[in-house]
Amino acid sequence: MAIPRSAHRLPLAVAAAGATTLGLFAPAAAADVRYEPGSSGLGDSYFPDLGNGGYDVERYHLKTAYDPATDRLTGTTTITATATQNLSRFNLDFYKMNVRSVRVNGHKASFERTGERELEITPRKGLRKLRSFGVTVRYDGVPQPLSGPVVFDLPYGFLATKDGATVMGEPNGASTWFPANDHPTDKALFTVETTVPHGLKAISNGRLLRQRTAGGKDTFLWREDRPMATYLVTNSIGRFNVSTTTTPKGVPQLDAVDPEVASDPNSLDTPRNTTRVTDELAGYIGAYPFTSTGSIVENDSGPPLNLENALETQTRPTYQSPPVEKGVAHEISHQWFGDSVSVRRWKDVWLNEGFAKWVEWYWAERHGGQSAQLSFQQSYDDPPPIQPDRPPFWDVVIADPTRDQMFHRAMYFRGAMTLQALRHKIGDERFLRLVRTWVATKKYGNASTEDFEALAEQVSGQDLGAFFRVWLHAPGKPTAW
Ligand code: TRP
Ligand code: ZN
Repeated sequence: MAIPRSAHRLPLAVAAAGATTLGLFAPAAAADVRYEPGSSGLGDSYFPDLGNGGYDVERYHLKTAYDPATDRLTGTTTITATATQNLSRFNLDFYKMNVRSVRVNGHKASFERTGERELEITPRKGLRKLRSFGVTVRYDGVPQPLSGPVVFDLPYGFLATKDGATVMGEPNGASTWFPANDHPTDKALFTVETTVPHGLKAISNGRLLRQRTAGGKDTFLWREDRPMATYLVTNSIGRFNVSTTTTPKGVPQLDAVDPEVASDPNSLDTPRNTTRVTDELAGYIGAYPFTSTGSIVENDSGPPLNLENALETQTRPTYQSPPVEKGVAHEISHQWFGDSVSVRRWKDVWLNEGFAKWVEWYWAERHGGQSAQLSFQQSYDDPPPIQPDRPPFWDVVIADPTRDQMFHRAMYFRGAMTLQALRHKIGDERFLRLVRTWVATKKYGNASTEDFEALAEQVSGQDLGAFFRVWLHAPGKPTAW
């Protein structure tokens, strides 16, 4: 349900219907319609097989049962989508799990596993363009996490924890536990219904609608009522202390913390920090885009991490260990930068991480810490250390870092430096207007680096070609801009 796209589609559909009534087009007889397969990717150069063409998802209902004793997940995913072409078949992204059956519009459909993560579905009858259709996939298995250089060389996706599981899906890990159109350009509404052994909890995005106990098991039903990219879906299972409140500005808040770290001072501060950051960032950058906020604090038993070991899961960031205040500022800022305004292609990811790091700096500046300009200067003079197997800091091209460096520290720090240098160049007032216009005009949509550059030029009235060239499009340490 890419918002800008559906906004275009509606008038077109209405126009076509009008034309038909006027007799301009005779409705095609079923036999004349040509049906073609939807593509198995969306042309994202970093992840060619992520996402699928030919349809647009409106909603997912993810019904799963998970048993931590065996790591086994049993699921039924129900998808409501609209065909964007006449479809003979279409794909979902799904990694490794066993698919038991697929139904399309209530009829059994045939399916095949192809490539690394494709589920190719052939319905009994072709699906007509602009019509809505339903897909139900039944599956089970032990979800296999992803790993490799993309995300700090750490496992991600659906992850088993000491007492359950958690989900950190960015960028391509949603499909480790449910079949999806796994690309941020196809946002959708979600309900997440999870059954776990009695005594455990399942925490997901948005609002908890229902909770019930039956047959020694507990079931939790959550709903996120604003468009959400697949990588932002969470489902943290385990023991949790849950607390709820409402922020002074009226945003319902739910925080869940693993009892093993509940007395950690940072855990104790997380709900309060989340309240403050949610409301205060709204004052700086525009209304909070979602209908709930909160946190999920896990007790990470893995190796110690010194990088951003948290993910901005929508409405409720997931922290692998208790976060410090700036960690909360970082993840909550992603609710605007990343979750509401999402990347158009994964190479645009500096728009997420650069903004989130810049907000950390700005948060400190607004709270008696050092100025963002000083943070800029420190990173400029003395950039953060980089692991020996990664490219040196100044070698990364921020607007096209390559897939394996998309979360390189330069994406955070040089990204934030770009924004602070821009603030310095165009002035505080115009910079904040740019930021507010950006989140307001791209709300719930997708946007690219080029979109940002164009808006920056428009709001500032300046030619910023040379500025963006040295900061975003060229390697090397900028010396003049
Ligand atoms: N977006 C995360 C951050 O806030 C980084 C990240 C990307 C991540 N993919 C992840 C963290 C998977 C944990 C797991 O910086
Ligand atoms: Zn981040």
